[in-house]
Amino acid sequence: MLTLDFHPTGRHFLQIPGPSPVPDRILRAMSLPTIDHRGPEFGALGLRVLKGIQQIFQTKHPVIIYPASGTGAWEAALCNVLSPGDQVLMYETGHFASLWNKMAMRLGLKTEFIGLPGTEGWRRGVQADMIEARLKADTQHAIKAVCVVHNETSTGVTSNIVAVRKAIDAAKHPALLLVDSISGLASAEYKHDEWGVDVTISGSQKGLMLPPGISFNALSPKAIEASKKAKLPKAFWAWDEIIEMNKTGYWPYTPNTNLLYGLAEACDMLLAPEHGGLPAVFARHERWGEGVRAGVKAWGLEIQCADPAVYSPVLTGVITPEGVDADAVRKIIYDRFDCSLGTGLGKVKGRMFRIGHLGDCNDLTLMAALAGCEMGLKLAGVKLAGSGVQAAMEFFASHPARLPMQKAA
Ligand SMILES: Cc1ncc(COP(=O)(O)O)c(C=O)c1O
Repeated sequence: MLTLDFHPTGRHFLQIPGPSPVPDRILRAMSLPTIDHRGPEFGALGLRVLKGIQQIFQTKHPVIIYPASGTGAWEAALCNVLSPGDQVLMYETGHFASLWNKMAMRLGLKTEFIGLPGTEGWRRGVQADMIEARLKADTQHAIKAVCVVHNETSTGVTSNIVAVRKAIDAAKHPALLLVDSISGLASAEYKHDEWGVDVTISGSQKGLMLPPGISFNALSPKAIEASKKAKLPKAFWAWDEIIEMNKTGYWPYTPNTNLLYGLAEACDMLLAPEHGGLPAVFARHERWGEGVRAGVKAWGLEIQCADPAVYSPVLTGVITPEGVDADAVRKIIYDRFDCSLGTGLGKVKGRMFRIGHLGDCNDLTLMAALAGCEMGLKLAGVKLAGSGVQAAMEFFASHPARLPMQKAA
């Protein structure tokens, strides 16, 4: 056994915003024997997961599944629809938007990275009017794609993708819309077709409640057309061969069989009509977010997201008071209470920590995480205005979940 796996006093509290805790039901599904990926049983599994994941993305069009982390799916999205030197408009919402921008530059694209100055943009969602203004100025239509992050995992801010779509349409601009919903999918509302997204990128280790290791590109017909002319080099990531083989439930290479067992189980759990389906999943995460924020506000600490209209239902970023190293607080909570919280990334390193409220959790696991935070903050010498634990308890007790817990997905 790895020492990392040795938690003598019960389960480790994995409260980072992904990888999220994996439900036992999914772990059991993944423990089935690995089968022949060219055999008859596999085709049925492939067709099942491809149908299930379309329902999660709310799309009728192909969804590509890669045996890769989300970063691979980012690269796949760019190299399937763009050509060397293409201009791409990217929006800075945080660390992950910045990493995607860096990747686009490494791939030989000309990126323009817009956003609010300094760390201000890391506290608010995408400002769609800035995108509209930039696209209107691009009268020659040199910009080939607009890239935004739906749920910025580094900050806990969820952007309004419908507003971005409207901005592109208002500018009458033909650019493709590429959206990273790696940490939004299956936790925050997301509608690939209805929202007019051309490529949505996602990953397994967040709302889908799976371990890391598979990732996705959901496509639009316009994206598929663009992929036929795009010239960036691609082989492993190329959509065409995958789409062709997926028609019978197979892949051109060895797929991640046991993660696909897990994905089939995850789709059953998330989509089950008797558990309320996706609307219940979204409502559950919204409620958890509200409960956690009630706690943070009662501590008297600032939430990284400065605009309540775009609070993330997936995670909450907590800013520590001036002079308090957020990573030192996290270390105390990890060492003393066996609870992992997300670190501050990039521009906000040391200034904030992140509480994930996604995956296999419930009111009581979140209460435990908040208790760990409250004790850790006090041990770190932070003067709290009040008890966040008490405030969150009051919130959860007075706001019952839409479905009784025993029935929820
Ligand atoms: C919004 C977002 N984009 C991209 C990534 C990168 O994905 P991965 O680490 O799976 O490669 C992450 C990872 O946390 C993320 O949260």
